[in-house]
Amino acid sequence: MTAAVRKRGQWKSPWGFVLAAIGSAIGLGNIWRFSYLAYDNGGGAFLIPYLVALFTAGIPLLILEFGIGHERIGSAPLALAKVHPRWEWLGWWPVIFVMFGIVLYYSVIIAWCVDYVFYAVRLSWGADPDAFFFHTFLGASGAPSRIGAVQTPVLAALVGVWCLTWAIIVRGVSRGIELANRIFMPLLLVLTLILVGWSLGLEGAREGIRAYLRPDFSRLAEPKVWISAYGQIFFTLSLGFGIMIAYASYLPHKSDITGSAVVTALANSGFSLLAGFGVFSVLGFMAHSQGVGVEQVVTHSIGLAFVAYPKAISLMGPAGKVFGVLFFLSLVVAGLSSSVSIVEAFTAAVVDKFGTDRRTLAGVLCVIGFVGGLIFTTQGGLYWIDIVDHFLNAYGLVVVGLLECVAVGWFFRIETIRRHLNRVSRIPLGPWWNWVIKLVLPGILGVILVQQLVEELS
Ligand code: PHE
Ligand code: NA
Repeated sequence: MTAAVRKRGQWKSPWGFVLAAIGSAIGLGNIWRFSYLAYDNGGGAFLIPYLVALFTAGIPLLILEFGIGHERIGSAPLALAKVHPRWEWLGWWPVIFVMFGIVLYYSVIIAWCVDYVFYAVRLSWGADPDAFFFHTFLGASGAPSRIGAVQTPVLAALVGVWCLTWAIIVRGVSRGIELANRIFMPLLLVLTLILVGWSLGLEGAREGIRAYLRPDFSRLAEPKVWISAYGQIFFTLSLGFGIMIAYASYLPHKSDITGSAVVTALANSGFSLLAGFGVFSVLGFMAHSQGVGVEQVVTHSIGLAFVAYPKAISLMGPAGKVFGVLFFLSLVVAGLSSSVSIVEAFTAAVVDKFGTDRRTLAGVLCVIGFVGGLIFTTQGGLYWIDIVDHFLNAYGLVVVGLLECVAVGWFFRIETIRRHLNRVSRIPLGPWWNWVIKLVLPGILGVILVQQLVEELS
């Protein structure tokens, strides 16, 4: 075991680690999920449940995941096995699930974004981006899951995405993941600032932002609004996937764990809020150009990126092409730094358990990722994406989070982790944190699960 510890990759600097954690957290969800959720759940008033969720669940749990990985020195399965052998499975479940459930379709969406960077140059989606995306681009002419109908551009981009992922993973922690995020994160920030600044200046932007943030406090009485806030916090911070555990296991002993968790969480939420201004300015501009209300053009997820934005870009005239290239590029960058973190969580788990050679493993995983992704490149894949997204956000992450809290809070001396955190970190963590993990979080997550089930069945 000592050999494994000695060979373990390490971040070159604390900042490299924080950037990688932020890279995992900031993803497609920040750009097309948060702003729509806010709009749909009380506008500006949504910030209340969102911030409550951030401080009662997001930050304490991120501290816990960083803490487990750092104190136990291991990826999710190994770290949890070191909490107690009976918990090893709890570490495998999420890393297997993200590797074979999420990253397969996440990489396909990134591949679409790569194609759209090129399409933006010539506004290839023409007058009807809707039809272009679903029929021409997805090649879904009535046959929902015909793999033969996959378009060459999708295949080419998907090969590119997996080659890049391979190149990053194979180079290891500091020369691969850290280096990539040192390039990706500043690039993403610059792209986003340009895009948001540009969007704010568009005609109609004000109406869009008003729709985004207009507070409706009466909505705070609905459980659904609170559930959405907690679900989003889990997803947005990449919690319950074993990613943050693996990343923290690569830190040197003396590292400000608690501080890093706070910085990661605030950077991620700040980015979401900022991106929301951009998204809704563009929607406001679209509504304005078409002489309709903002509510008539609001969409989210895939529809936002591949239908609404292309429409808006076409409406911008020649400058729209530049806007389009920057926008899709920003999605590619945000997405890649997240998908790389998923592959790493699984890679780390397998290397820790079986001592597999990283080179071989990276190659195998990327080939599997590419082949598995083909399922999602057809229209049938879109339904699958919706289903996975729903169950993942409704149950998957919350269940893992709940079990994590129970495993570490009740079957392990959580005080050990807290002492460790306080020894290495600058921000002291009071004993209250133990109780947040032991009682408050399981309580909140339990209520959410029950509510979800009730809503599902009714
Ligand atoms: N946190 C990412 C986002 O907000 C999503 C993600 C999911 C990242 C799973 C890694 C793993 O988009
Ligand atoms: Na996020």
